[in-house]
This record gives sequence, C-alpha cells and structure tokens, in this order.
Amino acid sequence: MNPRLFSFVGGAKGPWQVTSTRTIVGEPLTPVERIAVVSGDQALPSHAKWILRGVTSNERYTTHAEKRQLSERQASLGRTEARHAALIPLRKNAAWWALSQDDRRSLFEEHSKHIAIGLKYLPAIARRLHHCRDLAEQEPFDFLTFFDFADVDSVAFDELLAELRKGAEWEFVDREVEIRMIRD
Ligand code: HEM
Repeated sequence: MNPRLFSFVGGAKGPWQVTSTRTIVGEPLTPVERIAVVSGDQALPSHAKWILRGVTSNERYTTHAEKRQLSERQASLGRTEARHAALIPLRKNAAWWALSQDDRRSLFEEHSKHIAIGLKYLPAIARRLHHCRDLAEQEPFDFLTFFDFADVDSVAFDELLAELRKGAEWEFVDREVEIRMIRD
C-alpha cells in the first residue's frame, strides 16, 4: 500500500461531476462525465475511460521561508464548502527537464513567481501536487495538479490560472488540460 499514490479515474462514476474539459496546449484528453479520486493501491474500477496516476512527493523548489508561509496559510482539500474542483494534468518539455535544478528554480520562482502568486490565493484554494514522471517510462503527464474551493472563489481561481500561465515557467508546458468539476 502506497499512501502517496493517487489515481484519478475518469468515466461515468464518481463524486465529481465534470462541468468542462478544456485543452490549453497539446493533445486533448477524452472528455468524461465524472471523476473519482482513489488513494493507495486499491483495485481500480473497470468502467474507466482513463486513469491518471501520480504520487505526492518531497518539495523540490520551496525555500525554508516559503515553506513556513505556505504552512501558515494553506488549507486541506475536502472542506465542506469546497464544492468546486479542478484537475489540471500538465507535461513540461524536454528543454525543462534538461535544465539544472538551480536554473529550474530560477525560472519557477525568481522569473515566474509561482509561489508568490500562489500564496495570494491561500487559504481559499486548497491544492495537492502529484508527480508522474518516475512512475513508468511513458506516463501521459509529468504532474497532476488538483485543487478545491468554494463557489465564491471560482473567479479567484480563474485569475490565479491566468497569472501563472503568463510566467516564463509556462513556456515549457507542452501539454495541459483543464478539467473543472462540481461535487454532488
Ligand atoms: C493555489 C495556489 C498555488 C500555490 C500556493 C502553489 C504552490 C506551489 C509550490 C510551493 C510548488 C513547488 C513544490 C516544490 O517545491 O517542489 C508548486 C509546484 C507546482 N505547481 Fe503550484 N501552486 C499553486 C497553484 C498552482 C496551479 C493553479 C497550477 C496549475 C495550473 C500549479 C501547478 C504546479 C506544478 C505543475 C508544479 C510543479 C512544478 C515543477 O516541479 O516543475 N500550481 N506549486
């Protein structure tokens, strides 16, 4: 049992009803009606049109001060009022992965302000980052990002996406699909 493994099962069942599926860049993903989030190595349902898998992991870029600010402000997923969610699977290109760690950090934060921008939206938006790259030779995405928030924060979430996508970090994103959902 790996408690860090999460599977997003797209099909006709699951508590999250998909309201829109938008391809931002790259190859689309087959639209589904519903999504279930399954943790650990549980048996996965057979009805699925697709299953995306990722593991939570240690942080790569966050400094001591940023980590403290994040833990002071961030909320956990699953709050009662958080009836909206977004699953955004992303892939970065070979040029990104060929960079050194310090060059990636510099693009991620010093140039693109990913954490500084993100912090403005806490605690309204709760998030979980999953890594896929090391799971298998050919995973369709490098990251699965998952967020939940209340109805009143939907506009703020759109603003957050617009701000992040303007940064230099996003020039390396070669596949991104934005799936928006609402809980029954
Ligand atoms: C809610 C506000 C957000 C905050 C506070 C936030 C914070 C962070 C932090 C701290 C990391 C670095 C983790 C590490 O050190 O390894 C990170 C990574 C990442 N975030 Fe966000 N983020 C937010 C929103 C978003 C959104 C909306 C997206 C997608 C559209 C996103 C996509 C990613 C991706 C793909 C990574 C991994 C980057 C890489 O390792 O190359 N984040 N985020």
